[in-house]
Amino acid sequence: MRLDRSAVERVDRENMLKLLMEFPDQCREAYKLGLSAELPPRFREARCVVITGMGGSAIGGDLIRCALRGTATVPIIVNRHYRLPSFVDERTLVVGSSYSGNTEETLEAFDEALRRGAMCVAITSGGKLAEMADRAEVPLIKIPQGYPPRAALGYTSIPVLAALVRLGFAPNFDLAGQLEEALKVLEGMGGELNPDVEENPAKEIALKLHGRLPIIYASQDLEAVAIRWKGQMSENSKSLAYVGILPEMNHNEIEGWRHPEGLLSSLHIVMIRDPGDHERVQMRMEITKGIVKEHADGVTEVYPRGKGELAKLLSLIYLGDFVSLYLAALNGEDPTPVERIGVLKKKLAEGGEWPKSLE
Ligand code: F6R
Repeated sequence: MRLDRSAVERVDRENMLKLLMEFPDQCREAYKLGLSAELPPRFREARCVVITGMGGSAIGGDLIRCALRGTATVPIIVNRHYRLPSFVDERTLVVGSSYSGNTEETLEAFDEALRRGAMCVAITSGGKLAEMADRAEVPLIKIPQGYPPRAALGYTSIPVLAALVRLGFAPNFDLAGQLEEALKVLEGMGGELNPDVEENPAKEIALKLHGRLPIIYASQDLEAVAIRWKGQMSENSKSLAYVGILPEMNHNEIEGWRHPEGLLSSLHIVMIRDPGDHERVQMRMEITKGIVKEHADGVTEVYPRGKGELAKLLSLIYLGDFVSLYLAALNGEDPTPVERIGVLKKKLAEGGEWPKSLE
């Protein structure tokens, strides 16, 4: 199948491609929101940051924790649950992140953070989360409405990243410089990965993954990328995908590459490489590739662009987003609707409003 513009347009009825092409502009707008967010100076005293959210909103938190991994002066934790860890107290900065503002896990966790007297910030396009923040008189970063949450990654990540940097939690992270580099890289990639370009790495990867189970391997430093690839393949391409993280998978999962025998040849490995990674992790990637490639359908290696953490992370994420769009076209699936997520939320709602304390 030729993955040209008409092949994409045939499935992409709600225009995910447009949102993808506009992603660099979205990041630029998001940065402005982050710079103008009003944050109480006492938030600088937080000893830990917890970003609580789900799905397409939580991945913004992963992007932040990976980007600041080498510079953050406090732990940054992403919480994907109704409950908060027991250590969250008045010295913890809790960011409630829900694009819709109506995700029950996030609402319950944010409510709990308010009760514990944590320093709270909400980021949302509206919904109950915005109401909660207003009622509790805590800072609210209001982002534009009208996006599928996962397509609003710029809005759910960059304002919070900017807020954390402004509060002094990563004094050596040059956000303005990093973002400038990242945007230049992303704009270049938009020119190379769009459907009009025939010789296109994103199309090539999608063709390799079509009819296969993608196994995405990344180093811990790029975990956000692997989680995003998996999420986008599930939500956009309607395809299962699997994630493994190095070096951890070398200590267990590597042994699993024997069974089920009939399945192994349907697995296609995507190795997210980084020439700047720990040298032993790079060596482990090579050895792992040698061990697994004889069992799998194949191995595709992808590399980041740019020098800064943000350019690296966003370039790999952007590539994966394009791959997921082409894979959607190959699967004959419209990338935008997420019916099953909707069914789940509806069935849960039939059980009554949640969290109960907010009724
Ligand atoms: C839908 C999507 C989902 C949502 C998740 C949480 O595009 O990406 O993963 O992000 O169901 O909803 P929000 O982000 O509104 O809190």
